[in-house]
Formats: sequence, C-alpha cells, structure tokens
Amino acid sequence: MKNASKYAPGFFPPENPSADWARRSRIERAPRWCAIDLRDGNQALPTPMGVEQKLEYFGLLVALGYKEIEVGFPAASDTEFGFVRRLIEDDLIPDDVTIQVITQAREHIVQRTFAAIKGAKRAIVHLYTSVSKAWREQVFGKSRDEVAELAVYGAKLCRTCAKLNDGCEITLEYSPESFTGAEPDYSMEVIDRVLDAWQPEEGREAIVNLPSTVSLASPNIFANQVEYILKNLGSREFVTLSVHPHNDRGTAVAEAELALLAGAQRVEGCLFGLGERAGGADLVTLALNMYSQGVDPCVDLSDLPAVRRRFERLTGMAVGERQPYAGELAFTAFSGSHQDAIAKGLRWRAEHPNIKWSVPYLTLDPADIGERAGADVIRINSQSGGGGAAFKLEHAYGFRLPKGMKHDFGAEVGSRSDRLERELTADDLHRIFMAKYSPKPYPLRLVDCHFERGGGERIYTALDCEYKGETLRLRGGGNGRLDAVAAALRSGVDLDFKIDDYEEHALSSGSTASAAAYVGVDVGGKIWWGVGVESDIIFASINALFAALNSYIADGGETEDRQ
Ligand code: KIV
Ligand code: ZN
Repeated sequence: MKNASKYAPGFFPPENPSADWARRSRIERAPRWCAIDLRDGNQALPTPMGVEQKLEYFGLLVALGYKEIEVGFPAASDTEFGFVRRLIEDDLIPDDVTIQVITQAREHIVQRTFAAIKGAKRAIVHLYTSVSKAWREQVFGKSRDEVAELAVYGAKLCRTCAKLNDGCEITLEYSPESFTGAEPDYSMEVIDRVLDAWQPEEGREAIVNLPSTVSLASPNIFANQVEYILKNLGSREFVTLSVHPHNDRGTAVAEAELALLAGAQRVEGCLFGLGERAGGADLVTLALNMYSQGVDPCVDLSDLPAVRRRFERLTGMAVGERQPYAGELAFTAFSGSHQDAIAKGLRWRAEHPNIKWSVPYLTLDPADIGERAGADVIRINSQSGGGGAAFKLEHAYGFRLPKGMKHDFGAEVGSRSDRLERELTADDLHRIFMAKYSPKPYPLRLVDCHFERGGGERIYTALDCEYKGETLRLRGGGNGRLDAVAAALRSGVDLDFKIDDYEEHALSSGSTASAAAYVGVDVGGKIWWGVGVESDIIFASINALFAALNSYIADGGETEDRQ
C-alpha cells in the first residue's frame, strides 16, 4: 500500500467534547425504530423491489413490530409513488404504524411527495439536504450560507404543504445529509434554521435525523458529534433526535449504540444492515444486542430464520454466514475447546434454570430467536474435540461417555474428519462410535455365563467364551459380576489387564428399555474402551469388557496412551 499519503481524515470532530456518553455503559430502553428498508435499503439493491415485493416486505416489517417505516421516495419513480398510494388506498397501514417518505428540497419533488401521502392518517415527511464541506465545494459550488438557505427553502416548502395536507397528521423530519463531513457548528446552524422554519409544537413534533451518510471516523467521533448537536439543541421541545448510521467502516451498529448513549432517541436502519455501499445500521443486531442484555427491543425476532429467508427472497441479497445472530454459523462452534465450554455451560444451565443466561460463547439462547439451539450449535469437524462430539452423540443417541472415553472418541472423530475432509453429522458420530467401541466377535467372544454367590459379598462366575477360535470354560470370583468375569478371563487367556473405569446408565425408557455400559481396560498403563448396549445391565457391562479387550488385541497393544 503506497498511497496512504493520498488520504487524510475527512471529518470534523467537535472541539473539547464532553463525551458524557463515554461514562454510560448500558442502553436501558429500546429507541424508536424507523425501518428504512423500503427506501434507503431498496435504493441500494441491484434490482429494486417492485410494488408486490414492497407490499410483502412492508407486511413483514409490520409483523415484526416496526411502528415507523420509511416506505419510499415517491417522487423518484412511478413504482415508488404507486406503492405509497397502494398502501393508503388499500388501507394497508395499521393504526399504530406511521409511514415515512423522503424528499429533496425542490418544489415539484416536495409537492409530489405530499401528493403521494394524501389520505394517510399520519405520515413523516423526511427532507434532506447535504451540508458537508465536500458537497458545498464540489457538488453545489455554494457558500455555507447558500447551502443553509437551500435547507431553509425546503423546510418552508414542506411546512406549507403540511399545512395544506388536511386530515393527515404530519411530522416533519430533517436530515443534514453528509453530516459526518460537516463542521459541527455549521450543521447546528443549518438544523437551527430548519427548526426555526418549522416551529415544532405540541402535536406537531419534528425529527432531526443525523446521518453518517458516509461513515468517516471511529464511532466515538460520531457519538461526540451527536452529543454536540443534542447539547446545542438546548431546550428545544418537541424535537426528537434520530440517527442514521452507514457502515462504510463496519461500525454502523457501534455508531448507533454510542449515539444512543449520547442521548439519541430514534434509530433509522434496515434488517440485516441493508443499505448503500457497505450497508447501514442493522436493526436485527441492534435489537438483539439489547435483548441479550435484558432490554426488551420492542420488536419480535423470535423466528429469525424465517425473517432471513423472506428478506433474501424479497431483496435478492444474501445474509452472510457470519452475520451476527442471523448468520447460518453465528452460533456454531467447531473448535474443540469452544464446544467443551458450551457443552458444560448448557449442562450447567439445565441444572440452574433460574439464573440469568451466561453460557460461554453464546451471547443469547439461540432458541429464543428460532436458531439451532442446544447440541445443534455444536458441529463436528477435524477442529473439534471429544467434549463436543460426545455432547452431540449424547443428544442424538443418549450415550453419556465417561471422561476418559470422550478423549479417546474425540481423537478418533478428529482424525476421521481430517481424513474425510468434511463435517461429521450425528449419524456419522454414531456409526464411528459403534464401529470402534461395540463388541466384535473375534478374537474374544462371549458364549454364556452364570453367576452364583459365595460367602460374604463374593460372586463367582462360570464363563463360556471363545478365544482365537478355541472354546474355553473359565471360572473366577470377585466383588461384583464384572469383577468375577475379569478374574475368569485373566485366569484363562493371556491378557494381563485391569478394569480402569466402568460406568453405566439407562439408555431409554419404556418397553424398549436398554442400558449402556462403558468399560476402560488398562493394559500396561494404556487404556482401551468398549461399550455394551443390552436390556440387561450385567450383559451390557460384560459386552463392554469384551469389546475393550478385543480392541486392545486388534491394536496389537501398540496404541499410545489415549488419555
Ligand atoms: O444516508 C443518508 O444520508 C440518507 C439521507 C438521505 C438521510 O439516507
Ligand atoms: Zn442513508
């Protein structure tokens, strides 16, 4: 990169900012949301939506609970105009929803905009004029005062039209477009002059909307700029301060959040950050950032996958796999240590259902927004570990592996996935698990066994088995049945082992009840594992022992210590 000297910061930070926002750490309530998908978002689409698509999208925003919706730029095209008329004439705007339309400060455009909203019960008319130094010099070729006059001209036109628009409750909104590239005192002057023209009063409020039309600085600068305007608005009553961040620097959400800390009361943005160039403030992320801190976002995102699908169909845009909250992989853990922590956290949560959500790596419960939840957030590939693989196996098939076996299973799963170069499903895991740990008929095969009690706690067994093709009848005694079988085997086959670990649990309930038993055998300090699944727990454990020993023999005793 050779050309850094070509660039310089193009923003104007307020001098000596009070930065009160920096002392606040929490957004305590949801702001007024204004969904601008049908205007700002739509104008950023390679193929803008038609009337029918916009109608469906409008219905989606209403269903999600957005109460202020910018529906278009009616003077820009017949489609835009026709869409607004359709909403009004077909009575599609719920009583608690206000539509917003945008206009430039030109007479015929303002008039066409007001013509579009005729008959609406309520509407916000959004006037914008650009104020930045770059615009004044390069686009308008006008002085500060001349550019401010343009805003005042537009403001007066809007005020006159609003007065004539009988029966429609109109709120006027002004955006100093390119605000982030303007001197703060100049922006303030223009805003003041617009508000002087509007004279907002009770029942006729005004909105001042500060756009980072192009985001030019880190979000703290935007927060300082917003705070500067807010403080200089002084005691102006009936003015709502709104923000409209864009995402050129990847910080639109951060700008919106810091602006809220600075005192903004309203946020304009789009679902999934739709908007010009790199997009705008993502209303979904903003809402769920609040939700996951215990603040009601006042919109319903409980079926986010359905919202995402409709958004993608209507806009032709794809929601990225790593998009916060909404992305296909936004909650997925592939890495072993993450999976282990999530698995433990979810288990802990199940045991402590009444404490606040704090599961590692999951900022919220994916189930709350209709996403893959529980074991489904864990996906297995060569990066994964035994904790995650075992957790997934448990959720899909009920096996609860002992700790040492999880490590062993994890190593097997990791190398299998590495070899296959693909993700493994729960069914794959089950196949791998059974193939590796369930009893094989050779070289050691259980034929039958009987038990009888001796004196005290001792149990004796008569064990019929085959070993390398030879039929054997062995006897042994121990403190329990498994112990007795192990002793019998040690007496008759050339295997010097001890039982290192043994666990069992019921696998399912009802008439098909079965039990799973896990046995780890220690041969010369190394551990081999087996599993047995039977309706009878004793036979499950004996099968697990035979499986572990067969595994040792099959490995030729050469395997490294797997713990
Ligand atoms: O980004 C922007 O500045 C806008 C305005 C027209 C409000 O969309
Ligand atoms: Zn915009």
